[in-house]
Amino acid sequence: MAAICHLLGVPREDEPRFHHWADATVEAFDPTTGTFEERQRRRSQITRELGEYLDTLAEARVRRPGDDLISGLLADTGPHGPMARTDLLNTCALLLVAGHETTVNLIANGLLTLLRHPDVLERLRHDPDLSIPLVEELLRYEPPVHMLTGRSTLADIDIAGTTIPRGSPLALVLAAGSRDPHRFAEPDHFDPDRADNAHLGFGSGIHYCFGAPPARSETQVALSALARRLVNPRLVTDPPPYRPNPALRGPRRLMIEFDAIAP
Ligand code: HEM
Repeated sequence: MAAICHLLGVPREDEPRFHHWADATVEAFDPTTGTFEERQRRRSQITRELGEYLDTLAEARVRRPGDDLISGLLADTGPHGPMARTDLLNTCALLLVAGHETTVNLIANGLLTLLRHPDVLERLRHDPDLSIPLVEELLRYEPPVHMLTGRSTLADIDIAGTTIPRGSPLALVLAAGSRDPHRFAEPDHFDPDRADNAHLGFGSGIHYCFGAPPARSETQVALSALARRLVNPRLVTDPPPYRPNPALRGPRRLMIEFDAIAP
C-alpha cells in the first residue's frame, strides 16, 4: 500500500484510508457477501468516497505539482494533452485496487509456500538473488489472480477437438494454464530453479499486467527480508483460512510464530 500510495502521491498520513477502500472494494466484489443490490450499493459508496478524496488531491496537485503520477498525468504535454479529470480519477482508483490486493496476496502466498518448503527458505536466507526466480515460480505455482472473466471469442476457436463458437463468453483460468502438464514438467512441484517458466501469472497479450515490474520488486524485497529477519518462523495453521473469492486467491490472514526478529 505504501508503494502504490507513494507512486500516486498520497500523503503518508492518509494511507490507512486507502487500506480501508482497497479492502472494502475487494469485499464488495465477493459474491459470498450480502445480496447483489447490497454489493452494488457498497461499490457506489466506495467509488464516491475515493473519488472525492482523489479529486481533492488532484486539485492540490494542480496548484502545487510534485514528482508523483497524479501531477504527471495532470501536466502531461504529450499529443493528447493532460488527462481529463474523470479519466484521471478512474485510472488512480484502478491502480489502487489492481496494485494492492494482488501484491499482498503474492507476498502471503509466497511466505506460506516458503514455510512449506523450508529448504528453499533456508537458501533464500543466504542468497537474496534467489528471490528473482522464486517470485516467477510463485506466480506460476501459487498465483494471486486465478481467473479472468468478461472475455469473449472474436472468432470460432478450436481447442483440443472442441470448437468454441464466436461470441462465446469465456473464463480464462490462468492458474490452470500455468500448471498445464503439456507445458511444464512436474507442474505441481514447486521448483524455483525451473529453466523455462513462461507462466500466466500476469496474464498475456495487450492486457498484460501494467504493474508487473513494481509487483515483482516489492515481492522480491519483502520475501528476502522476511527470510533474513524472521528467526525460526513456523505456520500456526496449515492451511490458513482463505478469502472465498474464486478469482483472487490469498489467505484471509497468515498466522506465523517466530522466536525473534534479526536486525
Ligand atoms: C503480484 C501482483 C499482481 C498480479 C498477480 C497481477 C495480475 C494481473 C493480471 C493477470 C492482469 C491481466 C488482466 C486481464 O488480462 O484482464 C493484470 C492487469 C493489470 N494490472 Fe496487474 N497484477 C499485479 C500487480 C499490479 C500492480 C502493482 C499494478 C499497478 C501498479 C497493476 C496494474 C494492472 C493494470 C492497470 C492492469 C490492466 C492492464 C490492461 O488492461 O491493459 N497490477 N494484472
